[in-house]
Amino acid sequence: MKKIEINIPGKEYPVYIGINIFDSLDKIIRSKKLFRNLFLVIDRNVMSLHREDIKRFTSNFSGKVAVHEFASSEAEKNFISLSKLVDDLIVKGFGRDTIIIAVGGGITGDIAGFAAATYMRGVKFIQVPTTLLAAVDSSIGGKTGINSGDTKNIVGAIYQPEFVLIDTEFLKTLPEEEIICGVGEIVKYAFLIDPKFFLTCKNYLPKLLKTDSAIVSKIIDTCISFKGDVVAEDEKENGLRKILNLGHTFAHAVEIEQNFRIKHGQAVIIGLVCALDLSKRIGLLDDKLFSEYLKLPLMLKDKILIRKFDAARIYEIMKRDKKGRDHKIKFVLLQDVGHVAVDVEVSESDVTQSIQQGLNYFIQQ
Ligand SMILES: NC(=O)c1ccc[n+]([C@@H]2O[C@H](COP(=O)([O-])OP(=O)(O)OC[C@H]3O[C@@H](n4cnc5c(N)ncnc54)[C@H](O)[C@@H]3O)[C@@H](O)[C@H]2O)c1
Repeated sequence: MKKIEINIPGKEYPVYIGINIFDSLDKIIRSKKLFRNLFLVIDRNVMSLHREDIKRFTSNFSGKVAVHEFASSEAEKNFISLSKLVDDLIVKGFGRDTIIIAVGGGITGDIAGFAAATYMRGVKFIQVPTTLLAAVDSSIGGKTGINSGDTKNIVGAIYQPEFVLIDTEFLKTLPEEEIICGVGEIVKYAFLIDPKFFLTCKNYLPKLLKTDSAIVSKIIDTCISFKGDVVAEDEKENGLRKILNLGHTFAHAVEIEQNFRIKHGQAVIIGLVCALDLSKRIGLLDDKLFSEYLKLPLMLKDKILIRKFDAARIYEIMKRDKKGRDHKIKFVLLQDVGHVAVDVEVSESDVTQSIQQGLNYFIQQ
């Protein structure tokens, strides 16, 4: 089992990565002398696919355990689900000495984390990500939250877990569509980290899509270490952390405009293509690099298809994005691999043309 330290000032925590390490959860909780009142928030699909592992853990655990199943989807990442979760905590008699454990993808982690941040003004929290997207990205950094209406992650808190446990065995049951979503965030890191990692991602993409354990572990490790360093420097997203939003301003708006028919990670791939196009359009990224970089997200082009879209509506949704102040949209754009510009303001016409151009690659013929 590998251990990576996330060194957020005042809130350092480890991330454990390994194969078949879910059984170590009890031992880690014990070694950290954490409370022994566990409230597991589990994605319903994970529960049905890994019932034996979950049951073994809950029946062997010597403290109090309750299981709250959650049918994860963007439509369910809302106040109603949060309220059901909180009611369950109250009815089952969980107090301040509770640990909420999220076992699932990014949606389960976000809602369970927000419940942990707010229940009785904050109880302890552990993340057990079971999707590739959650393993490489959402389980680290402490962003938690829910959607309201059609605005994504508009209510939330930054709340760090006690630790994160990534058992890559969970990833084996992921459908291809979900692996592609995780690859979406990995492609983002390929642009952010350095040319060597960019090349690794490009070369190993086919193995990554087959969730080859060695490759997956290596890539999760690199992404987490990078995100951990960024978050340690700027937990509250006042500066450096903004770089992690590369492609996301487009992605969130595309997800909403497409009525969530495409998933978050798929939208991130589309968003990255739009961000590359916009970077080139305003002269930040040169044409040669643009053509070379575009090849990576477009390797996944046939796996993400949309029927039609309305570029003007996507632009309107972006204007409402919570990261925009005074209705000005601020972009994270790419100069070259490893170098991004943040808070870039661009004309409406350039943005709309990049939406048009970017989404055209994914239109179903
Ligand atoms: N907090 C953050 O920093 C952060 C970062 C990126 C994304 N996000 C959020 O994460 C969410 C997307 O996360 P996601 O892609 O993990 O979605 P998700 O949680 O909905 O999981 C995707 C699907 O995979 C299923 N699933 C989960 N684990 C499985 C397994 N091991 N085997 C088979 N099926 C499994 C789920 O039931 C679900 O149907 C979005 O809401 C996004 O806003 C948050």
